[in-house]
Amino acid sequence: MDTKTLMEWSGKYHTPNYGRTPICLVRGDGLRVWDSDGREYLDFTSGIAVTSLGHCHPRVTGAIQEAAATLLHVSNIFHTAPQIHLAKLLCEHSFADRVFFGNSGAEANEAAIKLARKYAKERFASDRFEIIATRNSFHGRTLATVSATGQEKYQHGFEPLVPGFKHVPYNDLRAMERAMDSRTAAILVEPLQGEGGVYVPDDDYLPGLRKLCDETGALLILDEIQTGMGRTGRLWAYEHAGVEPDIMTLAKALANGVPIGAMLARDEVARALSPGTHGSTFGGTPFVSSVALATLTTMIEEGIPERAAKMGRHVMQALGRMRARQPAIREVRGRGLLIGIELDRGAAPVVDACRDAGLLVLTAGDRVVRLAPALIATEADCDRALEILEQALSRVVS
Ligand SMILES: Cc1ncc(COP(=O)(O)O)c(C=O)c1O
Repeated sequence: MDTKTLMEWSGKYHTPNYGRTPICLVRGDGLRVWDSDGREYLDFTSGIAVTSLGHCHPRVTGAIQEAAATLLHVSNIFHTAPQIHLAKLLCEHSFADRVFFGNSGAEANEAAIKLARKYAKERFASDRFEIIATRNSFHGRTLATVSATGQEKYQHGFEPLVPGFKHVPYNDLRAMERAMDSRTAAILVEPLQGEGGVYVPDDDYLPGLRKLCDETGALLILDEIQTGMGRTGRLWAYEHAGVEPDIMTLAKALANGVPIGAMLARDEVARALSPGTHGSTFGGTPFVSSVALATLTTMIEEGIPERAAKMGRHVMQALGRMRARQPAIREVRGRGLLIGIELDRGAAPVVDACRDAGLLVLTAGDRVVRLAPALIATEADCDRALEILEQALSRVVS
């Protein structure tokens, strides 16, 4: 099938909700992908921070093949060993005691929102259901998670939104403190805002939120859907802050591209989800759990978060030098291999120019170019990507 016909059919048969890049990708290997015309690209998007071990990693592909030939699905009315092993591994390597599995980030956040409401109502009072999130955040596209998201552009047209969410500026402890009252069930934040523009909060922000929660009994929910699984240079981004949440949500990189979501919680909190109160048909199938087990085990055994930290430092230093040469770069922000380059203009033309030159990158907000390569990226991959990026920037600016 030729690319032109595929594009025509896409325009005709898809709902038009995605602003898609006009290429059709057919194959991937490590940090490289190929389109239907045989063009090769260096992929610094990794499916938006999903394929963190790279495309078709042998251990992930092996797990997929073995699990597909063993047992795909049986329903959560039965136990399966891969799901038990995965929950155990996640708990052994995080603050959490218990795990609920779903299929996406939004679904993981839905579970967190429901758990926070149920826990607060049972433990405190029936009108304690509010969740305070932050402006510029991103938590998903379902009705509750879009209501939690602090960006009107994602909410517009879908009103009435789900009640019970308030938004305060990110990285502002005083605003959070002022917004909290006897109805506050939880605070929901990203440890580092990804989609909204790659904003890293001050060092005292997460510890400050932890303290506010401890003083009031509100739960601290960290959305680590984008920042988790080594992306920021630690397995979980909260480790940078030295405090632990009560609930954490994961998805994206957890099974390196096979759909999965997870909500992790402390035992006392998780117990509010008594039998029958929540569920998901596909959540944590033996198939996806086997793939996630292979992904997480590989990450831990091969020191992938540490590699991301080291490569992130290399890229940030190089971008610092590039900024001195390129006045269109306003600021460079990020942690590990989640990096935002804020421009003095719209980022989309730079992203397009990079693609034309064989590099795939993302935007985050209107003016930020976001880099989120697989965490196995080498120095040579990063140097090549930065070279293409600088040439693209020069071309767009001139
Ligand atoms: C921080 C964060 N939360 C939630 C989501 C939603 O995840 P999903 O698209 O898997 O529902 C995303 C997706 O980009 C995200 O970055």
